Amino acid sequence: MIHIQHLYKTYPGPVHALRDLNLKIARGEFVFLTGPSGAGKTTLFKMISAYDLATSGKIHVAGFDLNDIKASEVPYFRRKIGVVFQDFKLLPNKTVAENVALPLMILKEEKRFIQKQVTDLLEQVGLSDKADQWPETLSGGEQQRIAIARALIHKPDLLIADEPTGNLDPLLSEEIIDLFERVSKQGTTVVIATHDHGLVQRRNKKVLELRQGEVREIASSELIKNISATLAEGL
Ligand SMILES: Nc1ncnc2c1ncn2[C@@H]1O[C@H](COP(=O)(O)OP(=O)(O)OP(=O)(O)O)[C@@H](O)[C@H]1O
Ligand SMILES: [Mg+2]
Repeated sequence: MIHIQHLYKTYPGPVHALRDLNLKIARGEFVFLTGPSGAGKTTLFKMISAYDLATSGKIHVAGFDLNDIKASEVPYFRRKIGVVFQDFKLLPNKTVAENVALPLMILKEEKRFIQKQVTDLLEQVGLSDKADQWPETLSGGEQQRIAIARALIHKPDLLIADEPTGNLDPLLSEEIIDLFERVSKQGTTVVIATHDHGLVQRRNKKVLELRQGEVREIASSELIKNISATLAEGL
C-alpha cells in the first residue's frame, strides 16, 4: 500500500525533516507511527497524501507513483486515501451530515447515493442522531468521529490520521482507536501518528518509530525505554 525508498525532505533553512527514510506498509496493515515532536511525522503524512513534494526519493502509495503523478491524476489518487487531523477540520457553517457528505459532493455524486452513504457512515460512528446539528454543538470526541466518517465516505484503501486523539481525553481516545480498529477489520489500511505511548501499548499492533528523520520498527514494550532515553537526552 505504501512503499518509500530513500526519501529526503529538506525545508528551507535548511531543515532536514526526513533523511533517507525507507518504509513498507502492506495492504490491510494497522500501524502506529510514533516519535518525538519534530521527528517528521506530519511531514511524512504530507508526502504520503501528495500534499507536498519530496526533495528526493521514491514514494508509491495505493498504486500511484507520487514522483510521477500528473496534476490531473491527483483527484483520482485522493479518492484512494482518507485523512484525519488532530483538530478535526470540520466546516463550522455546514451541518454534520453536510460535512460528512463533502468528499462525495466534490466528486459530484448523485444526491440519493450521497444521502445513503452519509446515513451508513453516521450509523457506523454511532452518531445518526446528530446529522442535522452544527459541529460546534458536538463534543470533541463526537467531532472527531464525524471527521473520521468524512474521511471514510469515499471508501478509501488507506486511512492516515495525524494525532487524531491529541485533543481528546483518555476515554474518548480509546473509543477513537476502537473505531479505527473496526475500520481496519473491514480491509482499510490504517496508519496513525501519535505521541500517546500508553495508547499504543494497550494495542497489539505494529509500531514504527520515527527519529531524526529515519524510521524503524519497534516492539511496543520498547516505548518505555525510549521515553527514558528521550528524557535523558533532554537533561
Ligand atoms: N513548512 C515547513 N518549513 C520549514 N520547516 C518545517 C516545515 N514543516 C515542518 N518543518 C520542520 O521539519 C521538522 C519535522 O516537522 P514535523 O511537523 O513533520 O514533525 P512532527 O513529527 O509531526 O512533530 P509533532 O509531533 O510536534 O507534530 C521540524 O524540525 C519542523 O520544524
Ligand atoms: Mg506533527
